[in-house]
Amino acid sequence: MEQQKRYGHFDDQHREYVITDPQTPWPWINYLGNEDFFSLISNTAGGYSFYKDAKFRRITRYRYNNVPMDNGGRYFYIKDGDTVWNPGWKPCKTPLDFYECRHGMSYTRITGKKNGIEASVLFFVPLKKWAEVQKLTLKNESSETKSLKLFSFEEWCLWNAATDMENFQRNFSTGEVEIEGSTIYHKTEYRERRNHYAFYHVNAEIQGFDTDRETFVGLYNEFADPQAVMEGKPRNSHAHGWSPIASHYIEVTLKPGESRDFVFLLGYIENEQEKKFSAPQVINKEKAHALIAELDTTEKVDKAFAELCEYWDALLNIYKVKTGNDKLDRMVNIWNQYQCMVTFNFSRSASFFESGVGRGMGFRDSNQDLVGFVHQIPPRARQRIIDIASTQFPDGGCYHQYQPLTKRGNNDIGGGFNDDPCWLIFGTVAYIKETGDFSILDEMVPFDNQPGSEVTLFEHLKISMNHVINNLGPHMLPLIGRADWNDCLNLNCFSWDPNESFQTTENVSEGTKAESLMIAGLFVVTGKDYVALCRKIGKDAEAERMQQAVDAMIEAVKKHGWDGEWYLRAYDFYGRKIGSNECDEAKIFIESQGWCTMAEIGAEDGLVAKSLDSCKKYLECEHGMVLNNPAFSKYIYEYGEISSYPEGYKENAGIFCHNNPWVIIGECLAGRGNDAWSHYAKILPSYVEEKYQTLHKVEPYVNCQMVAGKDAFKPGEGKNSWLTGTAAWMWYTVSEFILGIKPDYDGIRIDPCLPETATDYTVNRKFREAEYEITIHPNGAQKGVKQIVLDGKPVDGTVIPYSVGKHTVEVTM
Ligand code: GLC
Ligand code: GLC
Repeated sequence: MEQQKRYGHFDDQHREYVITDPQTPWPWINYLGNEDFFSLISNTAGGYSFYKDAKFRRITRYRYNNVPMDNGGRYFYIKDGDTVWNPGWKPCKTPLDFYECRHGMSYTRITGKKNGIEASVLFFVPLKKWAEVQKLTLKNESSETKSLKLFSFEEWCLWNAATDMENFQRNFSTGEVEIEGSTIYHKTEYRERRNHYAFYHVNAEIQGFDTDRETFVGLYNEFADPQAVMEGKPRNSHAHGWSPIASHYIEVTLKPGESRDFVFLLGYIENEQEKKFSAPQVINKEKAHALIAELDTTEKVDKAFAELCEYWDALLNIYKVKTGNDKLDRMVNIWNQYQCMVTFNFSRSASFFESGVGRGMGFRDSNQDLVGFVHQIPPRARQRIIDIASTQFPDGGCYHQYQPLTKRGNNDIGGGFNDDPCWLIFGTVAYIKETGDFSILDEMVPFDNQPGSEVTLFEHLKISMNHVINNLGPHMLPLIGRADWNDCLNLNCFSWDPNESFQTTENVSEGTKAESLMIAGLFVVTGKDYVALCRKIGKDAEAERMQQAVDAMIEAVKKHGWDGEWYLRAYDFYGRKIGSNECDEAKIFIESQGWCTMAEIGAEDGLVAKSLDSCKKYLECEHGMVLNNPAFSKYIYEYGEISSYPEGYKENAGIFCHNNPWVIIGECLAGRGNDAWSHYAKILPSYVEEKYQTLHKVEPYVNCQMVAGKDAFKPGEGKNSWLTGTAAWMWYTVSEFILGIKPDYDGIRIDPCLPETATDYTVNRKFREAEYEITIHPNGAQKGVKQIVLDGKPVDGTVIPYSVGKHTVEVTM
């Protein structure tokens, strides 16, 4: 591949990705905020903010599907004589003398220079604050005094992001604002049922403002040339209905060399019902004043920023590897962990591909995300497990998703995905192994959030396992239900109505023979975990019961789930094979290869090795492994959404990155380090970065859900970046299976699986109250630990027993 144009590069020392050309092949975004107040921000300052829930509590407006694509955001317009420009290039697109965007850990810094003025904006959400800080520094680098006109800009969303973009007959009459000094308040619907408002403040005196969008922009102008800005005159408009915005106007004079900071603050406030108003129709601003007072000087803001940086230092100090391979180290130490945190926070709700209105927190998604995150903030993982389990039904089934604001299951999204329950075991076991906190199993957790229905979390795990056992099909394999992990393999849906969603259309369970080999493998993997957990806590009878079920499942897979060269994928409604050499298309699927090799089913008879070889032979291509091969070339009524996608995209033979790690783990368990590594490096962003900046299109610092597969029109194009289970799976794979540092109930298990070329490396791992410095000497071996020496003394086996304090570990392979 020829050398391509580059749009940016990694800066590992600062843990940043530095974008040097604003015209990236697609908006390259970052996320701000860590707990309640969140923002999305693109490299040209596009994006929006919300409180907890991107659907129900959207603070600023953003239009998806726009032209140009990334339109709207937090904009600063600088009028310098006749030139109007933005530090982030957009929306004016005035050519800049310098442009740089640095996406860092929960912050973004965008710097632009034009005609001797430098404007640099630092965007971040301080820890524990419900506000986005935008610290703008203007600096006069020229030799003349400059008089500038500065306009800020934010557009309010009327809170519910869904109705905000459809119910205009109402929306155009409800908008309300208040203006007080340098603060613009947005209070639409506050007069009635809402007890929250937002504000946009600047810590400087303003010479004007605007709050009505059309007055500011002009009906026939655009964000690129707002009338008020072009004329250098704010209108001091007061919005009543229509589309409320917030724009400050400030006149700034800077002597040569002089620089000045402005702290802009986008805040969110909730008031108690009885304290909503300070006078009739006037919102109670007490809390807003207090929040502003905490962040109204450069010093205060710098301190908050330093705290945020320390917070990330601490998080990224828990697992640190030094291999000498920068591309690997930067993904493991920085970007993979960062993406895990973002997916944990957002699930699949808000990205530049997820509009924030469609999806809440997925049951299976969140359990998987947890594995990428649990080592960093275990208490939040604990809470998440309880929240998820609280949406379960008494029979072990569950809502597929729940809303973060209410934590209630969302019925609109559907249910009946029969893999869902197993993931609760996956998440809970990971949590206990990391923390040693078995007490979570005794937590009382309701069903469907109904008070009075509480049983222990352990009971939830048990009914989760039982849900699989109670729903077996004719081959004693798990019934698939609406779908398994692959949301699009809809074997019981039968839809000819294009206006019907495959996710919610009727799920015909009566008479179905549709079984899933993916759930079979998942059941064996999580079943073994469950058995081990039961033994650990002295529930031997229960362990025995489940061991039998696991053994029976293994037998069923060997008998009815093997196709000769690979594992079958499923049986359809009528009991016909899917993912078999007998099929015309989609003869082999990745999911069952991944899960059945992770479950090591039939390893002793060579099944695992054959399956892994088949993945290489049929699924692998230049950009990773495709989901199925060959792609479906037509819609198959009996299979549903999977066959609705054109060849090579999404679930129809796309490289669905999420499931590549399953096969990689299968390779690791089989000890095939060279193969594991070559699959891994193909979807490792830092490896793709150099080669495919333009082809891949999306952010080169994170994984995306899907890369177009070999059957696609343009193989290698990436889509759906950021929010994907790929993050957690890549992390789990590299940290535990490749580098081989695996938390266990009583300590850390060391069992790397490496390419032959691997050289000595060190992992610093904080684990509960201990800190381990582990140095591995691979000696050319792909697998197999010969000796572990802990603090100078040899250890039996591969587990370093846990003990408080600092330890050094030497591992020879
Ligand atoms: C999406 C969903 C995930 C599903 C996957 C495969 O990423 O969020 O739950 O497993 O698609 O269909
Ligand atoms: C679509 C997508 C799939 C996603 C599902 C649920 O079917 O292809 O990836 O999981 O929608 O939103």
